[in-house]
Amino acid sequence: MDKKRIFSGLRPTGKTHLGHLVGVLLNWVKLQDDYDCFYAIVDYHALTTEYADPSKTKDYIFEVAVDWLSIGLDPSRSTLFIQSHVPDHAELHLLLSMIVPIPWLERVPSYKEQQRELADRDLSTYGFLGYPLLQTADIIIYKANYVPVGEDQVPHVELAREIVRRFNNFFRPIFPEPEVLLTKTPKLLGLDGRKMSKTYENYINISDEPEVIHRKVMSMFTDPQRIKRNDSGRPHLCNLFSYHKLFAPDDKVKQIESDCQKGLIGCTDCKEYLARQLTDALSPYQEKRRQYLSKPDLVHEVLSKGANKARTVATATMAEVKVAMGI
Ligand code: TRP
Ligand code: SF4
Repeated sequence: MDKKRIFSGLRPTGKTHLGHLVGVLLNWVKLQDDYDCFYAIVDYHALTTEYADPSKTKDYIFEVAVDWLSIGLDPSRSTLFIQSHVPDHAELHLLLSMIVPIPWLERVPSYKEQQRELADRDLSTYGFLGYPLLQTADIIIYKANYVPVGEDQVPHVELAREIVRRFNNFFRPIFPEPEVLLTKTPKLLGLDGRKMSKTYENYINISDEPEVIHRKVMSMFTDPQRIKRNDSGRPHLCNLFSYHKLFAPDDKVKQIESDCQKGLIGCTDCKEYLARQLTDALSPYQEKRRQYLSKPDLVHEVLSKGANKARTVATATMAEVKVAMGI
């Protein structure tokens, strides 16, 4: 039986951090076994917010591609590519814009939220309003069945479904309605307990050296009620403990939990342990990163082959769309 298709994307606006790794990428890696996966580095989307200074975008694209390959996204099974190498996404975005009422875009929660969060830039642009429409084009141009994303992206996939229904009703049923495949891993918060985000500079990158990991872990917030070493702690309110649950073996997690509650372990020791665990967990990825960084041509070749494969599918869909829309 043919495998169902998946599409997902990540914006090249910085280095890949632990939040991406555990919340998104390791899930993408697993999905490769059971689905026909298309994963794109969505550089048009990066431009919707970074348009005033796109000078780093090319470097970030390369870094992201290296990270993807290093953590196990496999070009022999998945189609890995750069969005703008398949300009059909932009053409479909334009054609869809003919049928999408502006209020549908204005009411997507991320529209106002991001404008508030990124108040230092002018996001009252045409392109930024169209962000979720471009995302719809990304997904449906491959007739994807599933979209593996986090909770925050659910409204975008909902919008894609509404647009698909409208298109299929107006013209002809070309597109399946894509469904969200929610990532189940609990969200990793940033070093300061807020959402892990580039805006807050509170992340650990996949590529961080052991000293950097150590310094960052030492700066993490813990249970604020613990002042003296033998105060009893509340691990379930401590951000560090949620990291242990992801990176330490189960018996060690139980031990930390009980030692913390009984005041038998100090936060500094607890942090030293986490820093070691993270360093060990990331070191195989970093080893592979170094290999890919020394072979940039190989990375570019992967992306170019991926774009060719993606383009074949995208142009076939566009041929159908154009017939349906009478052009
Ligand atoms: N908006 C997504 C994010 O910020 C990135 C993205 C762009 C995407 N196009 C997509 C995700 C298509 C899934 C499917 O994470
Ligand atoms: Fe958090 Fe560990 Fe300190 Fe407990 S001992 S409060 S789990 S850092």
